Amino acid sequence: MAELTTLEEKLAEVTGLAQAAQGATDKVAGWIEDEQVVNAIRKMHEEAVETEDRCARIIESRDGKKTAILEKAQETKGEATEMMDTYLGDESDGLDGLEFMIMAEAGEVGHWAILGKLNEKAGEDEVRELVEWALPIQERHLQEVREKSLVLASEEDPEAT
Ligand SMILES: [Fe+2]
Repeated sequence: MAELTTLEEKLAEVTGLAQAAQGATDKVAGWIEDEQVVNAIRKMHEEAVETEDRCARIIESRDGKKTAILEKAQETKGEATEMMDTYLGDESDGLDGLEFMIMAEAGEVGHWAILGKLNEKAGEDEVRELVEWALPIQERHLQEVREKSLVLASEEDPEAT
């Protein structure tokens, strides 16, 4: 198995998180009735698909490393999905789902910023372009799941048992 550089490892991690985000958005959207909130989550899903595609294009071009990077991405996806399954159970509702997404999106923002910082020294043009595209989207996702969680919280009955 080819050994990955730190940059390649982080590229694999953001790819795995984008894959996991697709499962998370599907799961959480199913628990929410508010149409605006559901639409926002669906858009995040589409952007996660595009993120994975753009990552895959860069990974494809790394001769001899492609398989190892994709395997590492798969591992990250598995870990993130396991975290979701631990956090969200049969009793969970839309608000729980958005709380999980706040953590997940914050994780994505952090990972993309780290990849960008590592690439300041590595200086790979295509990685820089990818980070410049993806980081603002992830920041918007984080802001949006926070806002939408408050929308759902405002619809809750605080006295309900
Ligand atoms: Fe995201």
